[in-house]
Amino acid sequence: MKTIFLAGGAGYIGSHTAVELLNAGYEVVVADNYSNSSPEAIRRVEQITGKSVKLYEADIRDNAKLKEIFRENKIDAVIHFAGLKAVGESVKKPVMYYRNNIDTTLSLLEVMAEFDVRNIIFSSSATVYGESNPVPYLETMQRGVCTNPYGWTKAMMEQIFEDAAKADENLSVILLRYFNPIGAHPSGMIGEDPRGIPNNLMPYITQVAVGKRDHLTIFGKDYPTPDGTCMRDYIHVVDLAKGHVKAVDYILEHSGVEVFNLGTGRPYSVTEIVNAFEQVNGVPVPHEYGARREGDLPQFFANADKALKLLGWKTELSLEDMCRDSWNWQKKNPNGYRNSD
Ligand code: NAD
Ligand code: WQD
Repeated sequence: MKTIFLAGGAGYIGSHTAVELLNAGYEVVVADNYSNSSPEAIRRVEQITGKSVKLYEADIRDNAKLKEIFRENKIDAVIHFAGLKAVGESVKKPVMYYRNNIDTTLSLLEVMAEFDVRNIIFSSSATVYGESNPVPYLETMQRGVCTNPYGWTKAMMEQIFEDAAKADENLSVILLRYFNPIGAHPSGMIGEDPRGIPNNLMPYITQVAVGKRDHLTIFGKDYPTPDGTCMRDYIHVVDLAKGHVKAVDYILEHSGVEVFNLGTGRPYSVTEIVNAFEQVNGVPVPHEYGARREGDLPQFFANADKALKLLGWKTELSLEDMCRDSWNWQKKNPNGYRNSD
């Protein structure tokens, strides 16, 4: 049985990926410093799957600790989720973002080389396409000019991986560019658990719906889109997690560097998301229209043909599924994992 190491695996996407990897028959080892997560997520992954996960509390920048983990486990592939991801915070604390995100990557590459682990899959982002590429985004487009330090860390880390693979023909890399993950596992046991005021749309909507926040502000209604609000390629986190399983299957059989968009290829506007959420769940989401948020692009979405062709992956879940599962998670866990810590 192959063992996959999830760096930052207790987080939102990592925990969902752990479920799908375990269901597919992989062994899973997770390390996380819980800077934005809770070990409870992994306990619940174990409950959902009936399988166990080897869990380490560790900072991925700590080479000595990483070596201990690599010594204790025969790792076949790494998935690198460990990063800080709040765009606004990255503008205020750029050095913290560069330090954390770049250093986790460098430590992983160093320790992988020492232990001859040859496969790494990286959580990249559609944000690397920057401001000026036309939509839909294609993997063959140049990385663009990013609008914030978070985005730059992703662009820089992609470059680091490409350079490392160029210098070492034994190193295989898959860069997964996620679009906008939302939703939760249908059990309602794991989901997105932001700390403080959510930055992203869906957690904000669910917190308004559950009564934790008064109303949603929709940022801008004068964009050049059919209803004037921004459009994004929202992807169900379970579809995204299954994309990681396909990427693991692929990297264990192929060498080199590949980049994949993971999205649906179908954008929805903010207003469409709010309306769908209200209709699917039968709950109101009080909202008002406000000013544009700095740095937001009017519209972006994926061309996901490459993932279908090479990985045999495409999304299966609908916007309805995303809205229902996000709400199910929020309703069952109004305080996220906090009551369970
Ligand atoms: P998350 O914050 O839920 O998960 C990231 C995990 O990494 C957290 O559990 C956090 O505690 C951990 N972590 C951070 N720094 C660490 C360190 N130095 N050592 C150990 N653990 C550390 O975020 P997520 O939404 O699951 O995102 C996972 C990855 O995907 C991130 O790299 C993120 O940038 C990327 N990504 C996310 C989105 C999104 O919208 N959620 C979109 C594109 C890319
Ligand atoms: C979606 C839409 C907002 C909140 C970010 C990162 C991106 C990726 C995914 C990591 C936008 C609107 C939001 C609110 C609103 N992450 N909105 N009111 O900005 O598309 O992408 O997360 O890599 O890199 O930039 O996602 O969920 O913040 O916003 O109107 O209270 O919802 O303007 O149009 P975004 P988001």
